[in-house]
Amino acid sequence: MVVRLKVFRFDPEIDEKPYYKDYEVDAEPTGRLLDCLNRIRWEQDPTLSFRMSCGHGVCGSDGMRIDGVCGLPCQKLVKSLGPETLVEPLPVFRVIKDLVVDLEPFFERYRSIKPHLIAPSSASDGERRQSPEEIHRLEDAVRCILCACCTSSCPVNQDPETEDYLGPAALVRAFRYLFDSRDEGMAQRIDILDRKAGAWGCQTLWKCTEVCPKEIPVTKLIGQIKRKISEVKKGTR
Ligand code: SF4
Ligand code: FES
Repeated sequence: MVVRLKVFRFDPEIDEKPYYKDYEVDAEPTGRLLDCLNRIRWEQDPTLSFRMSCGHGVCGSDGMRIDGVCGLPCQKLVKSLGPETLVEPLPVFRVIKDLVVDLEPFFERYRSIKPHLIAPSSASDGERRQSPEEIHRLEDAVRCILCACCTSSCPVNQDPETEDYLGPAALVRAFRYLFDSRDEGMAQRIDILDRKAGAWGCQTLWKCTEVCPKEIPVTKLIGQIKRKISEVKKGTR
């Protein structure tokens, strides 16, 4: 079948302003949108820039906006596309070129939540063991591949007045350590999260949950962080 794509193009070194370019690609219905973009780059226009690596929903590098919804072209089947598909870079972030955006602010926020185990005491028998229930609690959060689709879809992150909000992806990672039974950094983590630009910045708008390609219940996890902050501050935990 013929796939018609309208693709956002912008090279700041050449173009005065962004524009859209139309492409047509022959593709199998069971192929993915990412295959079409690769075909364009290999066979029609080597100047088209986008990120990709694994091609299978694992690396998180190919986040983009497809017909107005942030997602992964490696997970979008050709047969699910309409007569013409609009392909744009993730919103919120500065465009470096075409579909490639500057994710440094995204990873800066990710690093700010201390995305590592804080466990200064030594493990009693050389291992930090967890029960199946303790591991199960983290299973949703550890599926995150840091694709940034949630953060770029969040209306709070999109609003210039609240753009300093940590964003759903950083909060998912914060959940992963806040609720890790081996972690000893609760006080530090609560300090980072208990502020307007932290967990309380979430307005429960569910956009993050709607777009997450790994089906993580992002909004619910942020709600659990808020509850934990309240419990810790009341001294009930
Ligand atoms: Fe991507 Fe989902 Fe992780 Fe957000 S929570 S970065 S949408 S995988
Ligand atoms: Fe790796 Fe899509 S290319 S997640």
